Amino acid sequence: MKNVLILNGPNLNMLGSRETDIYGNLGLDDINTMLAEYASKHGIKCDFFQSNIEGEIIDKIHSSNHNAIIINAGALTHYSIALRDAIAAVKIPAIEVHLSNILAREEFRAQSVISPVCKGIISGFGKHSYILALEYIVRGEL
Ligand code: DQA
Repeated sequence: MKNVLILNGPNLNMLGSRETDIYGNLGLDDINTMLAEYASKHGIKCDFFQSNIEGEIIDKIHSSNHNAIIINAGALTHYSIALRDAIAAVKIPAIEVHLSNILAREEFRAQSVISPVCKGIISGFGKHSYILALEYIVRGEL
């Protein structure tokens, strides 16, 4: 059975109450429940981790033995070279996701320092961004 690590970075624990016009009304637990249900229907096991602390996310990546990682790194996306290096170090394929379209917002969000070490990026489809990433894995591409 494939196992997938779903990683969420800073402030994503605030989903549901945080800037709902941009990020929607679902909490992170709701999104994770949806992902777990979808994954189990397709014979995939998901592990979930969220942290507001950069080092904890990096440690989680280092200790991962998953087949793939789906990561919404939050604001770390835009500046954390350490996170980028961690993704590159483990050689586990990672898919970068964002609820919002980071290219359609402030200029500082248009740059992702992790994209070059990820398989691809899915951005702008709300909760569906995560499902679309999982769908890629369900299709046997990772
Ligand atoms: C985000 C986009 C980031 O720019 C922001 O810092 C977030 C959420 C998204 O899912 O759209 O925290 O990653």
